[in-house]
Order: sequence, then structure tokens, then C-alpha cells
Amino acid sequence: MSFAEGILNGKSAIVTGGATGIGSSIVRKLGTLGAKVGIVSRKEENLIAAVRAFKEDDGIDVAWRTGDVRDPDGIKNSFDELADEIGGIDILVCNAAGNFICPTEELSWNGWRTVIEIDLNGTFNSCQAALIHLKAAKDGGRIISISTGQAEFGWPGAAHAGAAKSGIQNLMKTISVEWGKYGIRANWVNPGPIKGTEGVDRLIIQQGLEKQVTKNIPLGTFGEGEDIANAIVYLSSDTGRYVSGAGIAVDGGSQWQRFL
Ligand code: HXC
Repeated sequence: MSFAEGILNGKSAIVTGGATGIGSSIVRKLGTLGAKVGIVSRKEENLIAAVRAFKEDDGIDVAWRTGDVRDPDGIKNSFDELADEIGGIDILVCNAAGNFICPTEELSWNGWRTVIEIDLNGTFNSCQAALIHLKAAKDGGRIISISTGQAEFGWPGAAHAGAAKSGIQNLMKTISVEWGKYGIRANWVNPGPIKGTEGVDRLIIQQGLEKQVTKNIPLGTFGEGEDIANAIVYLSSDTGRYVSGAGIAVDGGSQWQRFL
């Protein structure tokens, strides 16, 4: 299952948190469809292993920089260097996220702040850092942020992530309005639970919630990283040119069910 070969030829993309999980599926898909891709994440060992796997498994060369989306100046430097290396930034995927389960009454200020800083402030920092490059994108820059359908509900044990992911959706709405004049489209994707990701292992499987969650997915199964990557390609390529300020649920129909 794929898009036309070379559909992203001539495009350059940055994926934050692109070394692991959903991010790495997005990188593989963008790269195999012709985009030049750069990734930023905190851990050098993850980056090196991922870049080797992208080359060995998919034959794609991926540029990388270590960086923390919480650090606006550091992210700006990383994006500028990557843009030089991959030929600009047409597509920004704000994927880096942090999360853990903790009841709100026990959540420390630092725990709250840490997740808000990674998820929400990190998305803001990435958008600002990419802006000068996105403005120069010849077919209109694309920003796609990873949110979650859980942000539409109360999310017991994840007040920090729920607030941040809701905030990301509103940030995309505002940016779509403000930066439309630059030809920039800003959208978000709400993944359902995706097999084999560290987040789902820790937040669902290790909490003993796999059966309960699966029961509430109308299509009856967890998704795959490639399902999210396909939505990113749609929004990144010419096919998505008139879509801005929108959210796409890729969740087996579960946005109308409660997970927990
Ligand atoms: C309570 C916790 C905690 C836990 C951390 N903290 N883990 N509190 N329960 N399990 C608190 C710490 O005690 C500390 O507060 C504060 O949070 C910061 O912790 P650090 O470890 O110093 O932070 P840091 O090293 O920056 O790590 C960030 C992190 C970590 C978010 C805490 O888990 C991380 O790096 N995760 C990255 C990967 C990740 O989470 N991916 C999953 C995304 S899944 P104090 O007060 O003690 O100083 C996702 C969607 C899943 O987003 C959707 C499923 C449906």
C-alpha cells in the first residue's frame, strides 16, 4: 500500500523525534517517497541506530542533529543546519513528545512542566524555528503536528499530556490562520494506539489496559506506524494543498469511543 513513487521528490522534511516510534515510520515513508529528511532528537545513540536502519532497510540517507525541542535556540540552530544539508524545509512534522502516567493529585510541578515543555512548547519552538524556511517552500510549507484523540476528553493520569495535546491542536488552528498568507498549511493528526511504540507499551500495555482499549476500537485492532505516515504524506504532498487548520483521526474509528 503506497502513494505514487517519487510523490515527494524535491521536498525536504524535518521530523522531530524521528529516531523512534511513530516518528521513525514517518521518516521511512517520507524518505522512500523521495523527500530529503532530517531528524532531531535528544539521544545520539537512538539517532545513530535509526539512521543506520533507514539506510539498511530502506536505502535512504537521513540527516540528523541531536537537539531538545524544549531549547528554542538549540532547535533553531539544528533546523538551520539541517535545512542547509537537505535543501530547505518544505515539511515540518512536530512529533517529539513525552508522557507518563501519574494521577494529577500526585503530579509534581516539574512533572507537569516537563511534559508541557516537550509537547506544547516544543511544538511552538519547532514551528518558529522552521518558519523562515517554510516561508521559502515553493509549493507552500506544511506543518503537521502529532496530537491525540485523547486530548478531546479528560485523560485520567495524563493531565499534562492531555492539556499539551489540546494546546497543540489550538496552536495549529491559530498558525493556519496567521501563516496562511505565507502559503503555509498547518494541520494535526490524532493517532489511535499504534503497535510497537514505547508510548503505547508504557501507557496502555504495562497498565494492563490492552484488552479494554482494543474493545473500544471499532476496527478492533491497534494501528501501525505506517497508517500515521500515510496521513502525513497526504497532508505533505500536493494532495493536501487545500487542507489547513484541520485534524485527521487515524485511529480505527475510536475517536467516538472512550479508550479508558
Ligand atoms: C511521576 C514522573 C514520572 C512518572 C517522570 N516524572 N516520570 N512523575 N511518574 N512515571 C517526573 C520526575 O519525577 C520529574 O519531576 C519530572 O517528571 C521530570 O522528569 P525527568 O526524568 O527529569 O524528565 P526528562 O529526563 O526530561 O524526561 C521526560 C519524560 C520521559 C517525559 C519524563 O518520560 C521521557 O523522556 N519520555 C520520552 C518518550 C516518551 O514519553 N514517549 C511517549 C510519548 S507517548 P520531579 O518533581 O521529581 O523533579 C504519547 C502519546 C501516547 O505522547 C498515547 C497513548 C494512547
